[in-house]
Amino acid sequence: MKNQKSESKLMSGNFKDIYRKSITKPEEFWSEISNDIFWFKKPTKILNKSNPPFYKWFEDGKTNTCYNAIDIHVDKGRGDKIALIYDSPITSNKKKFTYKELKQKVSKFSGVLKNQGIVKGDRVIIYMPMIPEAVIAMLACGRIGAIHSVVFGGFASNELASRIDDSKAKLLITASCGFEPGRTVEYKPLVDEAIKLASHKLERMILFQRSGHEVKLNPPFEISWEESLSNAQNIDCVEMNSNEFAYILYTSGTTGVPKGIVRDIAGHIVALKWTMKNIYNIDAGDVWWSASDIGWIVGHSYIVYAPLFKGCTTVLFEGKPVGTPDAGVFWRVISEHKIKSLFTAPTAFRAIKKEDPEGKFFSKYDLSTFKSLFLAGERADPDTIKWAESLLKVPVIDHWWQTETSWAISSNCTGIEMMKTKYGSACKAVPGYDVKVIKPDQNLAKPNEMGDIVVKLPLPPGTFPTLWNADERYKTTYMTNYKGYYQTYDAGHIDDDGYIWIMSRTDDIINVAGHRLSTGAIEEVLSEHQSVAECAVIGIADKLKGQLPIGLIALKAGVQKDNETISKECIQMVRDKVGPVAAFKTAIVVKRLPKTRSGKILRGTVRKIADKEEYKMPATIDDPAILKEIKEDLIKNGILK
Ligand code: COA
Ligand code: AMP
Repeated sequence: MKNQKSESKLMSGNFKDIYRKSITKPEEFWSEISNDIFWFKKPTKILNKSNPPFYKWFEDGKTNTCYNAIDIHVDKGRGDKIALIYDSPITSNKKKFTYKELKQKVSKFSGVLKNQGIVKGDRVIIYMPMIPEAVIAMLACGRIGAIHSVVFGGFASNELASRIDDSKAKLLITASCGFEPGRTVEYKPLVDEAIKLASHKLERMILFQRSGHEVKLNPPFEISWEESLSNAQNIDCVEMNSNEFAYILYTSGTTGVPKGIVRDIAGHIVALKWTMKNIYNIDAGDVWWSASDIGWIVGHSYIVYAPLFKGCTTVLFEGKPVGTPDAGVFWRVISEHKIKSLFTAPTAFRAIKKEDPEGKFFSKYDLSTFKSLFLAGERADPDTIKWAESLLKVPVIDHWWQTETSWAISSNCTGIEMMKTKYGSACKAVPGYDVKVIKPDQNLAKPNEMGDIVVKLPLPPGTFPTLWNADERYKTTYMTNYKGYYQTYDAGHIDDDGYIWIMSRTDDIINVAGHRLSTGAIEEVLSEHQSVAECAVIGIADKLKGQLPIGLIALKAGVQKDNETISKECIQMVRDKVGPVAAFKTAIVVKRLPKTRSGKILRGTVRKIADKEEYKMPATIDDPAILKEIKEDLIKNGILK
């Protein structure tokens, strides 16, 4: 640990200089920053560019994710500091874990993994609610070099099965249940169904029994968390090569087959630790809260890894912004745990604003420790930002990133230099990202011109070096349309001051309450209904969730069933196959779908009609009368008023 330099020394200078250095001398830039983490062996090769677009950062270094998250703080004498606060308004439970306690629990659970035959490189699926054991399982994987793949609890069996098959996991870790307001999510039947659906066979399931909600297990395949601990030894961190993988996180692709975003070990630690101070202005010992879910990238990076790498106290919140028990719960958590900064999705604030527009709950709490609010996951509408600013009286910062990158591509880097807010913009490119806009004619856009947003290669450390077992898909999906650039699939513009404006996705991804969903995947499910001839799913604007999916379904000739039954069945199928998180509540039976003469469904035009946006009649439309019919159907179903 002699290689630690003071970060202030590393990061002296203003934003402009730091940013310029990151782009013109990326190797020097990241080499200096990499001194701030623990290495078993320091890298001598900073960036291998020999096989684009597959770049390797810190190739010959050796380190360990878990060591950098936990042990290092204990070894530095900070073992009695609080690492994790579990706050569960939904179960009225709270617990605190010091770094020392977390190390003890994680090293013991690593022993469990070892007893189950898990070795370096094996995949472990974690399908759990927001409980400390989920974090312990993630860190234990890192300790022994296993690759975790956390699956969000709101996904159904089908999605879980596709992740079991793609990752070829040996072990699945789950819990007896999760709690959603008003209902208990029984995990065991969902897992059982996924195991039936998957063609790959898991070797073992470990299940954490939640108190009062124990389920029956069938050993030896199924064992309880408690039982698994009984003969486990504490295990130390193993040395890992920089470019081995820390985790796979599946995200929506344009088809039903999810993409396994992988994260390599060293770049992840180096970049994420750096962001805590430089983007969020958070130091070791500060209390930080990311109100997301560990099943999403925000949860991976900012509930678990970055705050622990930095030696902060991180909060694991099992609740919702409203209804657990009320719209004051965020203020209660901030005040009770003396939180310095919160990171969440704009949707959460829209939900609070809807229930408590005047901030009556807010006035009950002392928020004197609170210094900033960060929003991401979807476009932050200026109204919500302004409402939050006037209530909280702290900077409210919209920043833009993706599962692919694991940390912000653009943000106000508040630890380097506070920049002014432009409402509707996600601020400037963060050091490490050379962001450009490319127009449909393939030329670089001038300031304020719209186009596809791309990032010049190589991407900085901590971003995705490839897709799990799919190098070719990585190349063709992201790195081919614009040679030498990473295609973000977001469109927008960069203004004269370098501020980035993210306006829309260019693929079929929609953003529902900060959750990334593929309309293509929902269409695949609808097409499986025996009465459906063809369908189109579009994301329409929603005041609370940003977007909501609706389905238009055209039936096969001669179908006898009534439309209402078919519509209900379709909704249930999406819930069962994609999961409740899709929030798919509207399936409208239409006579025909609007298409171009070549047969392409005009989804964009239908979306514009539903959102009451202006649209041009597409020149290639097959039959313009269909749009009129669709409009009438949307009115009949209460979508269009
Ligand atoms: N396990 C099982 N089901 C889940 C789940 C989980 N972990 N998370 C959500 N669901 C279910 C919900 O119970 C709901 O089911 P329902 O149709 O039976 O009501 C459905 O998925 C949709 O959930 P959600 O998107 O949470 O909507 P909501 O109406 O229950 O709550 C908000 C709305 C705004 C309060 C909620 O979306 C929220 O807290 N958003 C914060 C944003 C966020 O965390 N984004 C993550 C990325 S940063
Ligand atoms: P995910 O991979 O789930 O984090 O979703 C990434 C996508 O969410 C991005 O490609 C954007 O479309 C959207 N997104 C994330 N943050 C923002 C933001 N601040 N502004 C606009 N869109 C955002």
